[in-house]
Amino acid sequence: MSTTASETDTKTSAEVAEEAARRRTFAVISHPDAGKSTLTEALALHAAAITSAGAVHGKGSRRGVTSDWMEMEQARGISITSAALRIDYGDCVLNLLDTPGHADFSEDTYRVLSAVDCAIMLLDSAKGLEPQTLKLFDVCRSRNTPVITFVNKWDRPGREPLELLDEIEQRIGLRPTPLNWPVGIAGDFRGLIDRAEGSYTKLSRTPGGATRALEERMDAEQAAEVEGEEWVQATEELELLEEIGAHFDEESFLAGQSSPVLFGAALPNFGVSQLLEALVRLAPAPHDPADARGGRRPISAPFSGQVFKMQANMDKAHRDRMAFLRIASGRFERGMVLTHAATGKPFATKYTQAVFGSERSTIETAYPGDVIALVNAAALSVGDTLYAGPKVEFAPIPSFSPEHFAVARAKDSGRYKQFQRGIAQLDAEGVVQVLTSDVRGEQAPVLAAVGPLQFDVVAHRMSEEFNAPIDLAHLEYSLARRTDADSAPKAHALSGCEVLKRRSDGELLVLLPNKYRLRVVERDNPDLVLEPLLAGGVDTDA
Ligand code: G4P
Repeated sequence: MSTTASETDTKTSAEVAEEAARRRTFAVISHPDAGKSTLTEALALHAAAITSAGAVHGKGSRRGVTSDWMEMEQARGISITSAALRIDYGDCVLNLLDTPGHADFSEDTYRVLSAVDCAIMLLDSAKGLEPQTLKLFDVCRSRNTPVITFVNKWDRPGREPLELLDEIEQRIGLRPTPLNWPVGIAGDFRGLIDRAEGSYTKLSRTPGGATRALEERMDAEQAAEVEGEEWVQATEELELLEEIGAHFDEESFLAGQSSPVLFGAALPNFGVSQLLEALVRLAPAPHDPADARGGRRPISAPFSGQVFKMQANMDKAHRDRMAFLRIASGRFERGMVLTHAATGKPFATKYTQAVFGSERSTIETAYPGDVIALVNAAALSVGDTLYAGPKVEFAPIPSFSPEHFAVARAKDSGRYKQFQRGIAQLDAEGVVQVLTSDVRGEQAPVLAAVGPLQFDVVAHRMSEEFNAPIDLAHLEYSLARRTDADSAPKAHALSGCEVLKRRSDGELLVLLPNKYRLRVVERDNPDLVLEPLLAGGVDTDA
């Protein structure tokens, strides 16, 4: 008996729903040096995706998770772009999207967070919440992304666990609900109590730390005998947690209001398996994606996905552009011809790749939550939707509040045409935000970025790809506020301020030198419209 088309559809739907349910797509948000690369390695190690620690680390002599795509990147030893790492763990597929960890990160770092269903907030036990963690957390908060907290480096002297929890609650309003509790102060890490089970896992180092930590399970009685004073102290702290009711609560976790907390040390692989388990058990699987009209596309509907990042010029000889797309619904099959929602034009996917660490391999099928890289994607921009079957378009990925500003001019005025073309292309791709005003003129647009690294990428591409080298003159502004046509002339006349129009969406932005000036301007001009840039109140400067 032959299979009918509708039977095939039902089978596909069931398969897609099943595949989506076993995926966890997440990112690690942290401040540089908190241990993100080390944790990534440890997670991959535990999941046995790689055989020895070091294979996915981006530093020193070790290979990079992200590909080296420009000489500049290699020379500076930093990752300008981010990729996805697929980790198979038991029945689950973990897609770890890499947020560039360098101090001068870029808008891409934020955009990656639009493609995840959960984030791990990684804290250094001695430092607690640090500036970059806070910025990234703000983006998670604006999207109500669930956050699991991992307090790292417990093998080194650090702060009191209760004090760290207090900091999380007081500073960012996220209610911490520890899943496990350390025995032994930071620097004298003995093991972890599982709060739900009440069991104790004693940890001991393995030589070199390159394999799984040795774990020995004990009951409370045994643990009390072995750990003595430290055990008593930990149980007292746990009683306190009981009193304040700091228990895991699924609803508030999924709403981004509470955060399960785990303690550990990524370097000696302490507490990493507990983190993996929590991720699998608690992090949400991909669900029906919301579209731009406020509806939802069923996850098992035909293929759809959104571009969250573009990467250009990977191969100098080909000048190709690659689009990283997160699958929102349906099954992807290489060779499918999709529709580009912005233009209605077809988009062929013959050269699609999966991204695993520094290796790229051609993929045949992929499911919701997976990230695919589309080659020859010159027609695509960040935020674009591709789909098959019924039309869908996802809401654009917001522009983030820029903190760095520079005027760009063509070095050679004879190459103005190329200059204009290049700036327009980089703007459309979302490499940098382009601001203009009548005062400055089209010849001297202001480039606005989240991190100064974005300027380096623009300068490099303008000279290498568009053959229009530029001079960049940095401006002394460090924050921007949205204004309206009525307020604009008044804001522009204020000392130290300037109003420019964002080319991509026509928003009028007031640039200000710093938050102190902003406070004075707000105090003296209560009638002026000066809004933080992201809807949802994300404003990293406030
Ligand atoms: P990042 O990607 O967040 O920037 O951090 P990375 O993993 O590179 O870690 C920063 C430093 O912290 C590294 O030391 C790393 O070994 C150390 N580290 C990470 N996790 C732990 C931990 O759980 N315990 C201890 N004690 N150290 C940890 P480094 O000396 O700067 O670099 P390296 O020479 O070890 O690579």
